[in-house]
Amino acid sequence: MSERQGHGQGLSEHELSEIRMLIEERTGICFDESRERFFSTRVREHLRAKGMERGTELLRAMRKSNVEYEGLLERLLTQETSFFRYPAVYEAFEKRALPELHAKKFWNNPRTLRIWSAGCSTGEEPYSIAITIADSLSFADAWNVELLATDVGRHALKHAERGIYKGRSIASVSEKQLANHFSEVSGGHQVKPRLRKMVSFAQMNLASAVYVGRMDMIFCMNVLIYFSEERRRSLVQRFYDTLEPGGYLFLGHSESISKMPVKFQAIVLNDCILYRKPTADELQKPELVAEGRA
Ligand SMILES: C[S@@+](CC[C@H](N)C(=O)[O-])C[C@H]1O[C@@H](n2cnc3c(N)ncnc32)[C@H](O)[C@@H]1O
Repeated sequence: MSERQGHGQGLSEHELSEIRMLIEERTGICFDESRERFFSTRVREHLRAKGMERGTELLRAMRKSNVEYEGLLERLLTQETSFFRYPAVYEAFEKRALPELHAKKFWNNPRTLRIWSAGCSTGEEPYSIAITIADSLSFADAWNVELLATDVGRHALKHAERGIYKGRSIASVSEKQLANHFSEVSGGHQVKPRLRKMVSFAQMNLASAVYVGRMDMIFCMNVLIYFSEERRRSLVQRFYDTLEPGGYLFLGHSESISKMPVKFQAIVLNDCILYRKPTADELQKPELVAEGRA
């Protein structure tokens, strides 16, 4: 057989590889060997759901129509998340990054804080950031907090906008936070309007360079792991360029930017590494900035 049939009828290895390349080219998401089974199972499920006979049919449809392309993409996204997923990150955010920015911007008028949650999934991450700000920033209401939360998945963003959560997703929300920031509704607990107003959700593909303005902090947790080394590098460089001097980048636990040629200061706090963009003055003092150290 010159073109070996893949893991499902009507789907050859060649077609699978074409689909894989199309997804990687457009989103940066890589399906390497470790995720090969997940990938082919999801593509086969999709073919069945669409009532399509062959992979070529799917490829043609995806190339022609964005709706068809996004239909498959939605099945391939890994969107696992929860409130306060890594407590150490939120502690570092509350105890280190927020007080520093508070002091730096205290006399600014207006007093603005701009934060980007890149790859926000169903919204638990940006709402955890909003809760931390509401609970710990002194005179939180005196600040103009702009929290931009973006993801490539439309379904996840719809969920995020509704802001209704239950079960494991809110297991790490304390009773006090639940009482202060959520209302009981049918189907779970809904984030109160005060916090929902703080967050703007938008569909955005991190593989395309979209201008979001300067940010004080960027959270991009558990997203880079799905990208190739090359994409990771260019995205981390973009985050560096987007951050204000003195701004912070928060990555997931298993994500490191070691060996990358960006001039972040790596700060180790308990169980977490924060990346701080040095100010112009600090850049003159090389002992403060270890290139790509992590
Ligand atoms: C595992 S979730 C992480 C959610 C959250 N940041 C957390 O750590 O709990 C990864 C998210 O990245 C999103 N994603 C993957 N590739 C993306 C891309 N190219 N552009 C934007 N978002 C992307 C997925 O849709 C998914 O919601």
